[in-house]
Amino acid sequence: MAPPERDLRLMAFMPAPKHPLFIAVSKGFEFSLKWVIMHANNVPALNIGDLHINPPIIQGGMGVKVSGANLAAAVADTGCAGIISSAGLGQFEDCPRGDLLGQAVESLRQEIRKARAMSDGIIGVNIMHVLSHYAQLAKASVEENVDLIISGAGLPLDLPGFLDGKNIKLVPIVSSARTFKIICKRWNLHYNKLPDAVVVEGPKAGGHLGYTSESLLDNTAPNLDEIVTEVLDVANSFPKKIPVIAAGGIFDGWDIAHYLRLGAAGVQMATRFVCTDECDVDINFKKAYLNAHSEDDITIIKSPVGLPGGVSKSEFVEKVKRGETIPFKCSYKCLKTCDPTTAPYCIAKVLANAARGQLDKGFAFAGSNAYLCDKIVPVKSLVQELTEQLEEALTNPVKNKCSIK
Ligand SMILES: Cc1cc2nc3c(=O)[nH]c(=O)nc-3n(C[C@H](O)[C@H](O)[C@H](O)COP(=O)(O)O)c2cc1C
Repeated sequence: MAPPERDLRLMAFMPAPKHPLFIAVSKGFEFSLKWVIMHANNVPALNIGDLHINPPIIQGGMGVKVSGANLAAAVADTGCAGIISSAGLGQFEDCPRGDLLGQAVESLRQEIRKARAMSDGIIGVNIMHVLSHYAQLAKASVEENVDLIISGAGLPLDLPGFLDGKNIKLVPIVSSARTFKIICKRWNLHYNKLPDAVVVEGPKAGGHLGYTSESLLDNTAPNLDEIVTEVLDVANSFPKKIPVIAAGGIFDGWDIAHYLRLGAAGVQMATRFVCTDECDVDINFKKAYLNAHSEDDITIIKSPVGLPGGVSKSEFVEKVKRGETIPFKCSYKCLKTCDPTTAPYCIAKVLANAARGQLDKGFAFAGSNAYLCDKIVPVKSLVQELTEQLEEALTNPVKNKCSIK
């Protein structure tokens, strides 16, 4: 029997199963279905304007060459935000004198494009304010249309000046409510803008830390709970919602739940993402975490950046702590605060060596909970585990297993 005339008319508009339009539509449907299944959970999203990060986790930017496109894209695929660190990308050591700028900017562009090609998720960059080419790296990130720029290690007072009217979220990193107030005041005054969110980094974080070495070593630095509470007071004093994101030592879903209950809208985690298959560093770097078994295996060094930093202990670290110097030639001057004529070693080279797995010539930055990492897993499994723990922690508030003291 011939189909009725109306059905024939409809069929004329329906693409044939092998038609590219049909394939595109069904692929789109398949993708959306996969996305819905993957993101079906009972945890609150971290909303930064129109960016919805779910589960509410930002993977912290990790230089040198620790969080590149590979890690950021894998994280972004899970619904979290993946962050590329702009510090020390490319072969900066071989760069002819004066050419670091072009090289650093081009390497960052390539890394962003690579991540975008690998994932449709949320991709941001971390730019330390202490980097010599901060302005150019910020401009390039804006031109490449990243979703967010996260910036600390110095005061990013000029960051909104690079925005060029785009809807890119700007997120400063602070270690105190006082610093946050200064940033809000300046941005408001000069750019009529407030931060889209703020990361509060406590003393247990990895990388360079905004505290004195002494306060870290004798445990007198304020703890993350105190700083988050103070920053929340400042954030809540503005009519615009500024999500507060807690960072430093957050290891599992119970820790995340702890900060959500305190009033944070999400967390930034870095150390935990090092021990993943997709993390861009050499296996020896990851093993430095796996080989740490107690808090004592993580220590504090004074970096030539002018800030202390948490690292995993090694013979090389002992050498540096004893004051031994590692002579070097610098043709790139990558940090505003580094004086290559007096610096005991080149921090960029030392970190690049570590990323390559040469831990006899470099050290691995690490958060104070790095010793809790006991295996290398795919990013997807890690995020799934964190989400399940967070779901359980939010539904069982009595069972408090938070690991942060
Ligand atoms: C290996 C490593 C490198 C890091 N590099 C940077 C960096 O280049 N810029 C920055 O702002 N923060 C850096 N951080 C800090 C993280 O982005 C993050 O805020 C912090 O480590 C969170 O604490 P957690 O590692 O305990 O989760 C680094 C952390 C680690 C572990």
